[in-house]
Amino acid sequence: MDDKYELRQVTDSDASFMVELHNDPIVLRNLTHPQPITLAHHMSWWKRTAKDRRQERFIFTINNAPAGVAKFYDIDHVNQNCILGADIHASFRGQGHAVHLWTLMLQRCFAVDQLNLYRVSLTTAEYNSIAIHLYEKLGFEREGRLSSSLYRDERFYDQILMYMLKPWWVNRP
Ligand SMILES: CC(C)(COP(=O)(O)OP(=O)(O)OC[C@H]1O[C@@H](n2cnc3c(N)ncnc32)[C@H](O)[C@@H]1OP(=O)(O)O)[C@@H](O)C(=O)NCCC(=O)NCCS
Repeated sequence: MDDKYELRQVTDSDASFMVELHNDPIVLRNLTHPQPITLAHHMSWWKRTAKDRRQERFIFTINNAPAGVAKFYDIDHVNQNCILGADIHASFRGQGHAVHLWTLMLQRCFAVDQLNLYRVSLTTAEYNSIAIHLYEKLGFEREGRLSSSLYRDERFYDQILMYMLKPWWVNRP
């Protein structure tokens, strides 16, 4: 793993980067709730989220520059699972960084001295072919779809459900 890539804690000075990333039309199109947010809305959301032990956010950095956000939802230590999501800023997209971001996230999920989970999952829009290709390449399997669950551009789309188990990741070729 190239050490130019890191996941670091979110600080107050990341607020404008996170808002800009969230409000990118391509990111919005791939979110369940595609409304843009304001800086004030972000700040009040972050105040609550930072205290929520079932969620984590990290800034993905490349040579210390903020390049994306890693999202860990519904962290369930009893059943050892969580839901993942991640976005890369437009200026860093299409350059092969996503696999490094996801490797750091999966390492965090499965390491015994970190989240120590057994299963991770995600959902993605059926039209997000770049993301689906990436997740399959990482070793995620499809486990179903939420039919007609995403209303975009005046029509309904499916969301694809994908998951990965720790042994698949640990024993990958
Ligand atoms: C999904 C996302 C994280 C992928 O990151 P990325 O920087 O675009 O992707 P990478 O450059 O690392 O490439 C990942 C794979 O997708 C392919 N890919 C990248 N851009 C592509 C494009 N425009 N068309 C087709 N394939 C593309 C790459 O070739 C690579 O596959 P390979 O390893 O087999 O060659 C990023 O595009 C993103 O944040 N998109 C907007 C928000 C989003 O969709 N988030 C995910 C919601 S589920």
